[in-house]
Amino acid sequence: MAIQLDRQNGRFYLRTKNTMYVLGLAEGKHLVHLYYGKHRRDLDFSAPTRAPHFCPYFADRTTKSYLPNTADAEFPFFGSGDFRACALRLRNLTTGGDATLFLYRSAKKRKGRVELPGLPYAEEDEKTETLELTMEDPATGCQLLLYYTIFPESDVISRYFVLKNKSKDPMRIEKCMSLALDIPRDGLDMISFQGEYGFERVYQRAPLIHGGQRIFSRRGASSHDYNPFFMLAAPKTTEERGEAYGFNLVFSGSFLDEVEVCGIKTTRVLVGLGEECFSYLLEPGEEFCSPEAIMTYTTHGIGQISRNMHRFVRSHILPPDKFPRRPVVLNSWEAFWFKIDEGLMVDFAKEAKACGMDMLVMDDGWFGARINDHAGLGDWYENRDKFANGLKSFVERVKAEGVKFGIWIEPEMVNPDSDLFRAHPDWILKTPGYEPLQARHQLVLDMANPEVIDYLKESFAKVFDGVDIDYFKWDMNRHMTQVYSPALPPKRQGEAAYRYMLGVYRLFAWFNEHFPNAMIENCSGGGGRYDLGMMKYSTQIWTSDETMPDKRVFIQCGSTFGYPTSTMSCHVAKLDLCRDPRWLNFDFRVALNGPLGYEMNILQASEDMKEAMTKQIEEYRRYEPLILKGDFYRLLNPFTDEGRYAFYFVNEENSQILLTYLQNRGDPKQRPVKLKISRADPNARYTDTLSGVTYEGADLRRGIELDSDAEDFCATTFHFCKV
Ligand code: DGJ
Repeated sequence: MAIQLDRQNGRFYLRTKNTMYVLGLAEGKHLVHLYYGKHRRDLDFSAPTRAPHFCPYFADRTTKSYLPNTADAEFPFFGSGDFRACALRLRNLTTGGDATLFLYRSAKKRKGRVELPGLPYAEEDEKTETLELTMEDPATGCQLLLYYTIFPESDVISRYFVLKNKSKDPMRIEKCMSLALDIPRDGLDMISFQGEYGFERVYQRAPLIHGGQRIFSRRGASSHDYNPFFMLAAPKTTEERGEAYGFNLVFSGSFLDEVEVCGIKTTRVLVGLGEECFSYLLEPGEEFCSPEAIMTYTTHGIGQISRNMHRFVRSHILPPDKFPRRPVVLNSWEAFWFKIDEGLMVDFAKEAKACGMDMLVMDDGWFGARINDHAGLGDWYENRDKFANGLKSFVERVKAEGVKFGIWIEPEMVNPDSDLFRAHPDWILKTPGYEPLQARHQLVLDMANPEVIDYLKESFAKVFDGVDIDYFKWDMNRHMTQVYSPALPPKRQGEAAYRYMLGVYRLFAWFNEHFPNAMIENCSGGGGRYDLGMMKYSTQIWTSDETMPDKRVFIQCGSTFGYPTSTMSCHVAKLDLCRDPRWLNFDFRVALNGPLGYEMNILQASEDMKEAMTKQIEEYRRYEPLILKGDFYRLLNPFTDEGRYAFYFVNEENSQILLTYLQNRGDPKQRPVKLKISRADPNARYTDTLSGVTYEGADLRRGIELDSDAEDFCATTFHFCKV
């Protein structure tokens, strides 16, 4: 039984394959958290309540009473006796009061799940079930619905809430967290991912101390700075062993992950929109639905948290693949920047085909007055100086060369120097009285304005309808400032960034419906929106604008903790460096961590290089099912293992294993490295298809020993197949 309602004792049990989550009622009305961990039968919920000094209580208190500041909360409210960080702060705009106390009213469970209006959410499968709890604030009559949806096979539980203003007063949500979890201990480590443009998802692990720790974005995008995915782990937890928790938010805008270790040795986790970049007005009768947040738990180390997340994202978040195989793309950006035109692109397509690549992706520079980044954004029609006979005829020429065609767009932005901005200067985010700030010479369109979305749909339909496009690269190259939507009334300005995201999601959904044969690769100056919201609409994401492989080793490894490698677009780039066969090989082996692509001017590549690339693509195709769908194990983490990165993919039957060892810096001492393949079958033998050498499965489990290389940029791959 996946979800069990024990009404008699006021307890609710949620069970996934390997985890169990229990919540219950104190005094029949206060919702409390009871347990999250592995399956157990011996749980004792009768622990006495802790009542230190300065602890608020209700007048009818007995020794067993619920105490709001010491009970483990399921969903903590602001102002009613719990001094710890809250999940919900709701202000009554008539009285000005901001204390609420929602009490339990009813519970029901259902098969499957409930859709979130306008927001991305995880798709159900036949094992999905949902618990819906109805709470009420007696003072205002407002209703709070808490949703718990379980995805048993990936050990994931999702959380969000719907708030209904049933009072006669306008209310404003001033803090919105979708998920709250009280873990009854302290001393955990937090593992999170920080970064910057060109160096995203940098792994950091540090012990939590008493007080608050926050990771967040205030940029209107999940951002390069922090990623909404994070983990908590016991101090001794390793890749393979120990307790760990994983959390994420299915949203792409500003967010807050908040962890607070409190005096009573509780670690409170909150995941949501926060309070700084969000508020929401609820007039009487209106309701609000928060984005979905997810959590997972294991006793098998942080590697297992990653695999839970990978399985969950592949099975419940990502759109179905549009093609039987991922196209190996040749992207024009690093090859030509904005200097593209029809003749060049057709030559590029011809050469791509000759090298065995599947798709030409024409990046920035094809539309409006776009000869550099100063002009043209918003004017979604082909530049006739570059494409004299129009886009359709050009794409037909590309296709005649035998490759697919992909194209770059940046729908959410406008250059001041564009026809769109000249016609609609009010269609941008701008606060009255302030000069709108620019970044990369661009302004942010007001995606909270339905007219803007309609305009974009119309203009993309006009330029792309009837053109055979297989792939869109959807970019976003600046963040929000002076966040204010001229389309919203003053009292709703706190909603602008949130409604912006709803507009973006609407446009994404329209692209997928209107161009059903085209896949979307998401991008935001590289991996600036590497999040579950974007993954709902995009098959893969451009991992980073940093294309030096020795840097990619870090960025890619960091990305694998929370996201499946099938989302991680990996390009072989840097033509001049790749003239050295050793570098070309290293670049390729690094790229074998996700879907493969190329990004260099292959028109200037030597015949030897092109031949090498053709062979690389053939080799990638042999491994592709493992890379896209296999279970992923990190063996060495470059952030903690001196820049060395080792990992393997394994299929479900353990009959195929792809092991990669990457070493950025030479090791003059050539110290041996032992790589243990725990998923190798101890009773089987495996042959490495690259060297022809046969190994005992038991030996692979004990560890394959490699001498680290004396030289920099060394890469080794083994492809073990059961004999
Ligand atoms: C930023 C992206 O990350 C690049 O790959 C490229 O598409 C440029 N934008 C184009 O302006």
